[in-house]
Amino acid sequence: MVSIDTYGACVDFPIFDAKSRSMKKAFLGAAGGAIGRNDSNVVVVEALRDIDLHLRTGDRVGLVGHNGAGKSTLLRLLSGIYEPTRGSAVVRGRVAPVFDLGVGMDPEISGLENIIIRGLFLGQSRARMRAKLDDIAEFTELGDYLHMPLRTYSTGMRVRLALGVVTSIEPEILLLDEGIGAVDAAFLAKARDRLRDLVARSGILVFASHSNEFLAQLCDTALWVDHGEIRAAGAVDEIVAAYEGPEAARHVREILKEKK
Ligand SMILES: Nc1ncnc2c1ncn2[C@@H]1O[C@H](COP(=O)(O)OP(=O)(O)OP(=O)(O)O)[C@@H](O)[C@H]1O
Ligand SMILES: [Mg+2]
Repeated sequence: MVSIDTYGACVDFPIFDAKSRSMKKAFLGAAGGAIGRNDSNVVVVEALRDIDLHLRTGDRVGLVGHNGAGKSTLLRLLSGIYEPTRGSAVVRGRVAPVFDLGVGMDPEISGLENIIIRGLFLGQSRARMRAKLDDIAEFTELGDYLHMPLRTYSTGMRVRLALGVVTSIEPEILLLDEGIGAVDAAFLAKARDRLRDLVARSGILVFASHSNEFLAQLCDTALWVDHGEIRAAGAVDEIVAAYEGPEAARHVREILKEKK
């Protein structure tokens, strides 16, 4: 069974070289997690506090919240990259973490070779990736560039390649962090359908995004993360309404209606 359960999970980042004398006791700004001190008087950023999360197969959850709210940290906690400082996180299922589309790519080898490498990084077998190679290559529309080393690619060309690979896998748990901004509009429209298909065959999706359009297209429910805490949970339009107001929520509802 595929599942995610966290119980009172906290993630602190100790900052040993902070200029701590001039720092206020506990700081809560518009951006970022709370800055405080731990028991040893070391300055810490409290990136996540008391996260209780219980997800099952079929859950598609969006994460909204201000810069530094803790969305990416939560995804990294669920992927096992971070251990909780307190509390626990139990994740059952094969995780495909898609945080940084460029991670696991080598600038000196060709696009085609990078497709295979990136697939291995996401938990696919070499044979599976070979079988998918033609399909991915066609999707990217990169043509002969696929035989050139990756360092000759523009940013958007790299994202095309990475998106082609990511949208070709079958993940049990898909953790998606936004970073899709670099491709041109026409390609994004094309990627959207593939992303939707990817999500449809994933067991659980957790997707951090500042784009309401993407949230509405890929998610059913959402969490509002605020200074490291879950401030609200509910249907995606309700959470967007709470976080951004009625105008944004109306837009989300229109997309939800089209989706049906
Ligand atoms: N490696 C790290 N070391 C120290 N502090 C960190 C580290 N990673 C994140 N933080 C802090 O943790 C808090 C949460 O950051 P996180 O990246 O999770 O935010 P976010 O919600 O993803 O923000 P954004 O919308 O800007 O992507 C911030 O205060 C950030 O400064
Ligand atoms: Mg982030």
